[in-house]
This record gives sequence, structure tokens and C-alpha cells, in this order.
Amino acid sequence: MSKFLKSIAVFAVVSTSVATPVLAEKFGLGRVALPEEIAAWDQEVRPDGTGLPVGSGDAIDGEEIFADKCASCHGDFAEGIDNWPKLAGGADTLDHEDPLKTVGSYWPYLSTTFDYVKRSMPFGAAGTLTDDEVYAITAYILYSNDMIEDDFVLSNETFFDVDMPNAAGFIVDDRATTEYPQWSGEPCMENCKTDVKITMRALVLDVTPNQTAAEPAAEAKVEETAEVAAVVEEVAAVVEPEVVALDEALVAKGKKTFKKCKACHKIGEGAKNGTGPLLNGVVGATAGAVEKFKYSKAMASAGADGLVWTPEELHAFLTKPKAYMKKTKMSFNGLKKESDRNAVIEYLKSFGE
Ligand code: HEC
Ligand code: HEC
Repeated sequence: MSKFLKSIAVFAVVSTSVATPVLAEKFGLGRVALPEEIAAWDQEVRPDGTGLPVGSGDAIDGEEIFADKCASCHGDFAEGIDNWPKLAGGADTLDHEDPLKTVGSYWPYLSTTFDYVKRSMPFGAAGTLTDDEVYAITAYILYSNDMIEDDFVLSNETFFDVDMPNAAGFIVDDRATTEYPQWSGEPCMENCKTDVKITMRALVLDVTPNQTAAEPAAEAKVEETAEVAAVVEEVAAVVEPEVVALDEALVAKGKKTFKKCKACHKIGEGAKNGTGPLLNGVVGATAGAVEKFKYSKAMASAGADGLVWTPEELHAFLTKPKAYMKKTKMSFNGLKKESDRNAVIEYLKSFGE
């Protein structure tokens, strides 16, 4: 089984538990952060200036602070010492084999410089600079890159007067071959699929071993080929299944219809296999997958070939079992009335796993 499939399955589990605070509470996964706690972390400065604090500083003040706090690594002129990063220079080297990427030559937004310095420098003493110091240092880095004059005062108001030489060098890669077209529309947040079809089960995909080592069951054979590739897509689509409310009246009607099945099938808590397999969780399940039940060859191999009991398949099967699957050993004439089938399927659904 490919790693890719496994990671999809894991992702599905993680994303649902994180996205559902109710579960976070149930599993004791911490508490909601206080506004003060969020404010302490929420310091980011964005390219559009959001988050820039009020303050100012110039390169002359900046030079002094830089010499004191930064130059030991980044050099007196931001040219970098030994292997410490260079913060200046590199203009026109981006098309070289080994380009020098600095604030001046490469970075598209000045906000990144401010944000980075404020949050992570000086190395080892992050967070110790005042906002004015960060403005002054940022000005000094710009000055070292010949981007401003030494009397330019950088502040939250003059921030966008500075032209970043490589600002136009970053473009959105919207070629049809990238993910961009796929993810750039408005994301669908509710009722995104009218019909959720479970096309594969973790058991069949072999991501959730449910046998004990003592009883290695006949492995469901899934060819590692085009079939699996097709499944990958559909599994991805099933990552966020929509929760469909049950129609309780229909469930009640189905309970009556189920009397026709009861002689052979048990359902509900503590249900065991009888003449027919127990039916808990059968809607959406792979056919022929109830443990310890001896299915006909026809049913077992239909399951191994990927047959899943979607409501559509159940309708077809229950209409006339022997017509749907010639050699099934379910000796039952079928439910001719669609309304009966609807009801019994709704009833089966109410015993989801
Ligand atoms: C002890 C050495 C040291 C000191 C002192 C230091 N830095 Fe750095 N700086 C680093 C290292 C190491 C990195 C790279 C960190 C990384 O890539 O994760 C870095 C990265 C940077 C970068 C990003 C460079 C890039 O192109 O990615 C900036 C900007 C920067 N430092 C500014 C400063 C400023 C301003 C000061 C002083 C307030 C300072 N640094 C002090 C070691 C230092
Ligand atoms: C006379 C006994 C009998 C009756 C009545 C009966 N079944 Fe079955 N059913 C079986 C048997 C036996 C199987 C296993 C078929 C096989 O292996 O081919 C089966 C299989 C099934 C399966 C497939 C389960 C699986 O694990 O893949 C479903 C779903 C099902 N029955 C639903 C029903 C419903 C709903 C009714 C009533 C409307 C019903 N059956 C009536 C005997 C019965």
C-alpha cells in the first residue's frame, strides 16, 4: 500500500478532530486561549501594513544599534561575517548560478524585514528590541542596501514610501498545471456534497488493521494500479463527510419492514450473526465484510472487488437479491415497493457504527 494513501487517511483523522472543538473538549485537548494570550503572540506584520506598530527610527540611530547588537554576526555594513547571513548586496545576482538573496536583492516586502527582526533577532535574544529600535535597524538595513538616504525616517507612516527592488519578481503561479486554479475559488464550507458516497473502507485500503495477529484474514485484494489511483481521488473527496440527519418517521416505518428480515438478520447492540450477517453499520460498508460470517463466494468476491453498500446498491440488492447477485445465499424474494426499501435502508442507517 502506498504511503500516499496512508497519509491521506491520517490527515482525514487529524483534520476532523482539530476542526471540531467539541471533540477537543471531549478528549481533554486544552482550553480556548485568552485574548491576552492571543495578543502576546499576534505580532505579525503583514505585507499590507496590518500589524505595524506606531513608531519611527532612522539609519543613523539604526547604525549604532546594529553595531551593538547585530554586527558581530551580520557585519558592520550588513555584509555578513563568515557564514552568517548577508543582509545587504546581491543586486542583479538573482539570475546567477548562485544568487545572493538579501533584503535588498530578493525580499519582496519590507514588512518581512520588520517582522523578522522584531520577532527573531538578535539571534538568541529575540523579542528584546523596542518598536523604535526595529524601525531604526530596518532603516539601517535599507541604507546598507542603498535603498534610502541616511536622513530618511522610517515609520509606520513612511513605510510604503520605500520601493523594494524585487517586489515585481514574485508572481502567482496560476498555470493550469499548478494547484492554484483548484484552490483559488471560494471554499465550500457547508452542504458541499449532496450525496456522500463511501467508496472505500479503511479496512480494505489496509490502513486500519482490524485483525489480530492470530487470525490473519483473507486480505481484501486491491490491485495497486489504476483502481487504487481512482480510489485515491474519491477518498480525498470523502475527507469531510456531511452529516445527514435521519428521518425518524421513516426509521420507525423501516423498523416494521425489518420484521421481514429479522428471521435471518440481527441488528443493534449485542447483535450476532445468524442465518444472515449482523447488519450494524452495513450502510456504507464493504459487502461481505462482517467478521466470522460465512458468505457465499459471490458476496465475498463482490466485496473484495470493492462493492460498497451505498443506499443505491442496497436498493438494487433488496429489490430482488437473486437477480442482483445470482449466487447469493440470501434466500429472500425482495422488497418490491420502493417505499419499503427506503424505509428499511433508513432503519439500517440508524445503526451506523
Ligand atoms: C549570534 C548571531 C546573530 C546576531 C547577533 C544577529 N543575527 Fe540575524 N541572523 C542570524 C542567523 C543565524 C540567521 C539565519 C537564521 C535562519 O535562517 O533561521 C539570521 C537571520 C537574519 C535575517 C534574515 C536574513 C535572511 O536573508 O534570511 C535578518 C533580517 C537578521 N538576521 C537581522 C538581524 C538583526 C537586525 C540583528 C540585530 C538586532 C541580528 N540579526 C542579530 C544570526 C544573528
Ligand atoms: C432467509 C434469510 C434472510 C432474510 C429473510 C434476509 N436476509 Fe439478508 N442476508 C441473508 C444471508 C444468508 C446473507 C449473506 C448473503 C451471501 O453471503 O451471499 C444476507 C446478506 C444481506 C446483506 C449483505 C450484508 C453484508 O455484510 O454484505 C444485506 C445488506 C442484507 N442481507 C439485508 C437484508 C434485509 C434488509 C432484509 C429484509 C428486507 C434481509 N436481508 C432479509 C439472509 C437473509
